[in-house]
Amino acid sequence: MKKTLVLLMFLISGNQLIFSQKKIWDETKEEKKERMQWWTDARFGMFIHWGLYAQPARHEWVKSAEKMTNEDYQKYFDVFNPDLYNPHDWAKQAKKAGMKYAVITAKHHEGFNLFDSKFTDYKSTNTPYGKDILREWVEAFRSEGLKIGFYYSLFDWHHPHYTADPKHPLRAPSHGKEPGSVIQKNKETENYYKKINKGKDFKIYQDYLHNQVREILTEYGKIDVIWLDFSFPELQYGKGRDDWDSVKLLKMVRKLQPHILVNNRADLDDYWGGYDFETPEQKIPEFWPEVDGEKVYWETCATFSGSWGYYRDENTWKTNHELISMIIETTSKGGNLLLNVGPTARGSFDYRAENALEKIGKWMKVNGRSIYECTQAPNFWEAPKGTMITYNPKKNRLYIHITDYKTGWLKLDNAVGKIKYAQFLHDNSEIKFRKHWDSKYPNDIVFDTPNIKPNVEIPVIELFLN
Ligand code: GLC
Repeated sequence: MKKTLVLLMFLISGNQLIFSQKKIWDETKEEKKERMQWWTDARFGMFIHWGLYAQPARHEWVKSAEKMTNEDYQKYFDVFNPDLYNPHDWAKQAKKAGMKYAVITAKHHEGFNLFDSKFTDYKSTNTPYGKDILREWVEAFRSEGLKIGFYYSLFDWHHPHYTADPKHPLRAPSHGKEPGSVIQKNKETENYYKKINKGKDFKIYQDYLHNQVREILTEYGKIDVIWLDFSFPELQYGKGRDDWDSVKLLKMVRKLQPHILVNNRADLDDYWGGYDFETPEQKIPEFWPEVDGEKVYWETCATFSGSWGYYRDENTWKTNHELISMIIETTSKGGNLLLNVGPTARGSFDYRAENALEKIGKWMKVNGRSIYECTQAPNFWEAPKGTMITYNPKKNRLYIHITDYKTGWLKLDNAVGKIKYAQFLHDNSEIKFRKHWDSKYPNDIVFDTPNIKPNVEIPVIELFLN
């Protein structure tokens, strides 16, 4: 009996893994693919990290980094008044940059809520600003046709029943200055946590977390993405699925918004439906990530500079070339890019972010066709040196992004007989091509690219394939 069952499980092609896995819900791989379709087509979104930390303006982890108590931090709540906040303007900028969806921090680790929650007083409606920031944001972004996502921090450094841990502002001194530094359990640390967490009932926080997630998924209409952040069960005194009761949480999320897409930070990697996509942070993987030999959905999240929240004095901003390269590279490996803006405490985008978005938009406007609905090219194609390639499977077109422009010509291997037509994407101007002149390369094509680089940050050649 058991043997037959195992065999049956094995035979149901494409879905074997699902059968042997623990499950949050029943969904086939095909159904998942369909549910993810708008997102894989979109490829490019905006992350927004905004909270009280925009006022100290020195990283969204400032409360923990500087080991501030709730009392120390209260001054930011008392004066929070982003008088220039105009989410329509943000949405327009996102759209113009070519972004198709956006994810905003409804609550970050500091515990402050951008929405009018029934379950706390620690929210934007009780600051001098006085309004439900999230509601205004959702309406604005939706009206610009962007898909809507909420980031919700599993951490909470303000809630009275959220216990201190190695990442917490009130972590044990043995954890040192850096939040999260690894230590071994010892008596002193043990005693410290016992003392500081005395009287705290984490179950009360757990209920709060579930209530708030339910709240943001019921009070704001259709939500397209939820970004839960994050778990660290690997650390001594860390937190993970049992602390968040992630299984119950995810079941609720799936029930409330069955179409929603969920990131992978609730510590449910071994559950089918426990997450939808992986989230490499600040880096693009070397290859399309795989789990058990199968390619997975993924999204790199990245900042313009070295911080997610507004950081006035941080000056390591990426160049336009680097940012556009990131959009191309993620697409070329079958992933998405969620590019972050940290608005100021006045409620506007920093001028550097505005400039960067504008330049990206300029490029996307004429080259977006090589990004949207595109993915990794079939293995057969090899990107010429100094280029990255993407592929649109529906249109059967290949895109060569010339990141390192060389004058005169460009060689593409194994392309003889495979190309119907070639043009620059930004102006639809023909690019002539011919068989390689050297008989050593009988299968290769040479494109006659102009000697002068076109006036585009990264020129793209569009190939209509046979
Ligand atoms: C990390 C950080 C957090 C940021 C997030 C974005 O988890 O804790 O500040 O929101 O990365 O991926």
